[in-house]
Amino acid sequence: MKWTTTKIREAKGRQKLACLTAYDYATATLIDNAEVPLVLVGDSLAMTMLGYATTLPVTMDEMLHHTAAVVRGVKDALVIADMPFLSYQVSLEQGVTNAGRFLKEAGADAVKVEGGAFRAPLIATLKQNGIPVMGHIGLTPQSVKEFGGYKVQGREQEREAELLADATALEAAGCFSIVLECIPEALGQKITDAIGIPTIGIGAGRHCDGQVLVTHDMLGLHSNVTPRFVKRYADIGEAMKNAFAAYKQEAESSAFPGEERTY
Ligand code: KIV
Repeated sequence: MKWTTTKIREAKGRQKLACLTAYDYATATLIDNAEVPLVLVGDSLAMTMLGYATTLPVTMDEMLHHTAAVVRGVKDALVIADMPFLSYQVSLEQGVTNAGRFLKEAGADAVKVEGGAFRAPLIATLKQNGIPVMGHIGLTPQSVKEFGGYKVQGREQEREAELLADATALEAAGCFSIVLECIPEALGQKITDAIGIPTIGIGAGRHCDGQVLVTHDMLGLHSNVTPRFVKRYADIGEAMKNAFAAYKQEAESSAFPGEERTY
């Protein structure tokens, strides 16, 4: 059963939603086979796949390339493409053109943009033009330089009120769902209770309508510092390291290939 933005909206209060990031065909296929309803081609691929220190350098062309590969691997999940830094901030026109490319050229089902109430005009314009949008507030990594680091957001009363107002504005503008990143659990609950569309939390506590994790983090594929909210479900990095070492040893000692692997 193909997930649509309508079905995602309708899931609120009925079913908690799981979301994982994917950046390539093979991983996307495995996530889709696990019946995860939301697959995000996150701009986190700048760090996990391309080795950058932040999400800022990743380009439209790189995001399109990875999104198309993910779309080829997915049958049922809703595929959301992250709009990269400066692909939607400069003007509404550029925002629509670039968001449209994700649907038209890569086959994505929706796009995600970072930012609060000030992003409402873009979200409304995209929706009017048939492009479904997921919002993203709290710790928005494209603003890491403005924030001065990856810090929990919404601890102060004023910022808490601002984030609550942002969520309401994003819903009114037409988002089908909103990612809440790195905010106190109590605020995650307040926002979730205040709006009628699903909240998808990452470091936003237990009361969100769904959760998202960066797949590389939950599989132990990323060697960087792991945030507190990440749960490691497998250590694939360690398994790969051991497999590479065993292969090297066998290739060097001529144990591989054995006779059974020759023609
Ligand atoms: O880029 C990404 O992976 C994200 C998630 C952390 C929500 O935006």
